[in-house]
Amino acid sequence: MKTPGGSDAAKRRAGEHAADRVTDGDTVGLGTGSTAAHAIRSLGRAVDDGLDVRGVATSYASRDLAREAGVPLADLDAVERIDVAIDGADQVSDDLALIKGGGAAHAREKVVDAAAARFVVVVDPSKEVPVLDRSIPVEVLPDARTTVRRAIRELGGTPTLRAAERKDGPVVTDNGNLVLDCEFGTISDPGTLATGLATIPGVVEHGLFVDLADEVHVGRADGVTVRTPE
Ligand code: 5RP
Repeated sequence: MKTPGGSDAAKRRAGEHAADRVTDGDTVGLGTGSTAAHAIRSLGRAVDDGLDVRGVATSYASRDLAREAGVPLADLDAVERIDVAIDGADQVSDDLALIKGGGAAHAREKVVDAAAARFVVVVDPSKEVPVLDRSIPVEVLPDARTTVRRAIRELGGTPTLRAAERKDGPVVTDNGNLVLDCEFGTISDPGTLATGLATIPGVVEHGLFVDLADEVHVGRADGVTVRTPE
């Protein structure tokens, strides 16, 4: 689920700043969401000006936007290497752990972001928190939703099936699965929770991204701050 808020100007600053650092010949992971969209549009303009890159989309949405922007695309299973991935986040903690999946794209995003030699996160300041505390999206096989719900409660979480907004019934991901938004309160040990969620049978992927971000570009009113792991 998306958290409303965050200025579009700040998102744009972050997205364009990250896109500006893409170099000729790069294969670029294209994240999903409104902030990553600014990076994709910026890459499209750079391609028009002669930059030679190819993108690997993380969702139908980012693929469609890349096509519209004129960024050449390659399939994830056809590339040997991803040089850099640029992707948004729903929350970023002080130690650069992330919650992603507001757009239900976190499964493909995690594959692409983790495969990239450099994973660059782009956010506006509304996403920055000292400690993660929003609900974690968990993509589940449809038939496993009841058993996964039970296992999540055993881990201390409260799962809610994500409902679609312009369709009756649940959100169905690009992979044909469902999403449980799981409330855990303050997440003081994201690494342990990430392992717990990943080992539940029927979980396809969860939205905790721990020790993956190489840089976080935060668009601010007066420029962009680049945060790196300590
Ligand atoms: C999609 C995501 C997005 O990157 C995340 O929701 C941030 O989106 P936005 O930049 O629109 O706030 O994880 O699954």
